[in-house]
This record gives sequence, structure tokens and C-alpha cells, in this order.
Amino acid sequence: MNWHVRDFHPEDLEAAIRLDAASTMTAQQPLFDASDVVTSLQERHPAVVAVVHGAVVGVAVSRVDADRAWVLRLSLDPAWRGKGLGSTLLNELEHRLLARGVRRITAILPDGETGSTAFVNSGFIQRSGIAHFDKHETMSPRSAAVLTRLGGSVPPAGQWQQIAGMVREKTLIERRIVLPLSLPEQAAEHGVVPPQAIVLFGPPGTGKTTFARAIASRLGWPFVELFPSRLAVNGGGLAAGLSEAFGQLQELDNVVAFIDEVEEVASHRGAGSAAATAVVNELLKCLVQFRDRAGRLLVCATNSIRDLDSAFLRHGRFDYVLPIGPPDDQALDGLWRRYIADADIDIAALVSATGGYTPADVAHAARAVAQATFERSVDTGVRCQATTADYLHTVTMTRPTLTIEQVSDFDTEISAFART
Ligand SMILES: Nc1ncnc2c1ncn2[C@@H]1O[C@H](COP(=O)(O)OP(=O)(O)O)[C@@H](O)[C@H]1O
Ligand SMILES: [Mg+2]
Repeated sequence: MNWHVRDFHPEDLEAAIRLDAASTMTAQQPLFDASDVVTSLQERHPAVVAVVHGAVVGVAVSRVDADRAWVLRLSLDPAWRGKGLGSTLLNELEHRLLARGVRRITAILPDGETGSTAFVNSGFIQRSGIAHFDKHETMSPRSAAVLTRLGGSVPPAGQWQQIAGMVREKTLIERRIVLPLSLPEQAAEHGVVPPQAIVLFGPPGTGKTTFARAIASRLGWPFVELFPSRLAVNGGGLAAGLSEAFGQLQELDNVVAFIDEVEEVASHRGAGSAAATAVVNELLKCLVQFRDRAGRLLVCATNSIRDLDSAFLRHGRFDYVLPIGPPDDQALDGLWRRYIADADIDIAALVSATGGYTPADVAHAARAVAQATFERSVDTGVRCQATTADYLHTVTMTRPTLTIEQVSDFDTEISAFART
């Protein structure tokens, strides 16, 4: 064949990039993207090109790591496929790698990609049954350092899907909060300004913290919880601590910041004392600054919204004030199913027996049944199975965390404070 194979020269870079784009035969992303290929070429890892009449028609690029090498790319001009050019390039590359002390050469290609045959013809063994795991760090090292300093992290994907039931709350949050934050340009076309601060209120244990984290997980944004009790410890008091923490948050491009039990910081009961007023004012100031930049959401949660300073809840400060109540029937169903795999248990009966239970109550009852069944197995030497009756019995013994008064107070609060 009338091609000429030689070492890659820096002047070939442009032709190599052009060929890389023209060569691919699949819509699949390659394992190493074009920038990895360029980096290897610039760092002078072994690479060879095939030239016909002065034009580059094939490129093989490697990356060496001690005695191991990766073939990052085998690109072929479409007109020169199926002529043995790929195998020639691989053989030439292999000689250079062996000369560098390489003992093992690996390549990972999308199914059916250019060059697959060349690898087989050059003696590479194709391994099947390999799963390819990939993770892209979206954060700059600087943001990652800030996040670590603030004790935050990016919650794993899937937490939103793991919230059982609560369809009304989920739909509301999905539409009013997640959509505009994740599609800011489309929102802007409609004159929609994405929310930047929200309050979640409701009785204890109903899922406020869970929702806040799940929003971050859903958006793929870092989650940072600010603990007022810890902020105050760093000298200078709580107001100074808040100011410093919010200053650090400014360094993150995206963030869901969370303050739990915000009534401890912004309660009207403390309004008499100068120190408490200073803290509320500082928080309001931080909130104004926080709202200055897009791509961030402050979530404040409270069990007692009626204790919040009225200035704190004034319009314009929080975009939404959302109630998060005890689980609905669908949520209870999902919660019970988390603990019960046995298809013989009558989940519907448990759901109707546990109206008003919080998720924590369900967890507690399920654990009690599991423990009792385990003890019974040990005592009798026979593996026992819990029955629906066991569950119902335990439920009658488990007092729900929420009292009737709390639930009815919550209903009153919804009409007085909710802004959806
Ligand atoms: N809808 C839900 N689905 C599954 N688990 C839930 C749900 N709501 C709450 N939980 C669980 O219940 C517990 C208490 O929830 P949490 O978010 O801490 O409540 P809150 O912040 O309102 O006091 C947590 O373990 C949480 O994982
Ligand atoms: Mg909480």
C-alpha cells in the first residue's frame, strides 16, 4: 500500500484533530475525549501517523504509564478503512511502546468503533463482560476546597426518587423550584426568575431535611448545611459567623445552602435582646447578598413557623413558604415497603393503621418487629417470619410522634403562612 507511517510531529496536530472528528463511526462517546488525545500528543507520548501524498490519513495515539500503555485513539480517514491501515498503525505504535519498556497495551472502544478489527488483527484480545464506570467531577479544585471547608458535599444522585409518596409536595417543588433552577434560560424567556430562597415548615420528622438534600441531589449541586450553633463558636458571635459562612458560599458557583431550625436564629421571641436582633438583621443582610447571584438556593426549615420574626418572612425575601406535612397514604405505602420485602404482609392494612405516623415512626415500628422476630428465631431455634398481625400489634403499641393538636396546628399554619 502506498502510505507512509512515521512518528507524529507537532505540525500534524491540526490534521490529527480533524481526522479524529471524521473517523468515528458511532454516536457513542469514546472513553478518552479529544482533549485527552491532544494532551497526550502535546506531552509527546508515542504516536504515529500514516501519510498519503502529504495528507494525514491515519493516527494512533498512546499514553504511557510505567510499563503499561493505553491506545487513546486509532483514527482512520473513512476512505482508507478496511485496507489494513489500522493494523499497520497499531504495529508501528506497538514497536515504539515496547522500546519504551511497555509490557501491556490496553484500548477501550465503543462497540463497532473504527479500528475494532485492527485491534483483533494485531493480536489484542477482546474482553467481554466488562462494565465501564465513569464519574465526572464538575467542580473546580477551588470550589471543592471551599466545599470541604464548609463541611458540604454533592449528595449522590437518586435521593429525590427515594422520597416515597408526597406527590403533592414533590410536584410543587419540582415545578416551582427545580425546573427554573435547572432551566434558567428557558425560564428567563418567560420572565420567570428562578427562586433563591425558600422556607419549608411542618411538624418534626416529616421530611424537611430530606427534601432539602434531595433538591440538591436532583439539581446535582453541592449541599451545605449551616449550623448556627457551630457558627457562633468561631469567635465573634453568631452574627459574625453567619456573615463569614455566607461569604464563603459566594465562592461556589452553585449551591443549596440549608439552615435547619431557623427559628432558633430568627425568632421573634428573642427580638427584645440586642444580640438576637443583630443576628436576625445579619441573616437578612446575608440573604440579600445571597440573592444577588443566580445558581444558588437557600432552604430554611422550621418546626414552628409561627415563632419566626415577621420581618424574616416578609415578601421578597423568600420566594416560597412550603408546608411539608406527615406522609400521605402513598408515602406510607412506600415507607412500609422499604422495610418489608415479604409479599404476604398486608401493606394496605398497615397504611390505614398508621395514618399520622411520621417516617421515623414507621422506621421505629418496623425495627421493633424485626427485632422481636429475630429474638423469637433465636429463642425457638426455628427461623420465624413476621406476620401482618405482628406488625399491627406493634403499631398499636407505638405512639405516633405527632399529636392530634400538632396536626391541627399545622393545618392552621398552612392557611396562615404557606406561600406556594
Ligand atoms: N417521604 C419520605 N420518604 C422516605 N423517607 C422519608 C420521607 N420523609 C422523611 N423520611 C425519613 O424520615 C426521617 C426524618 O426525616 P427528616 O427529613 O429528618 O425530617 P424533618 O427534617 O422534617 O424533621 C429521615 O430518616 C428521612 O430519611
Ligand atoms: Mg430536619
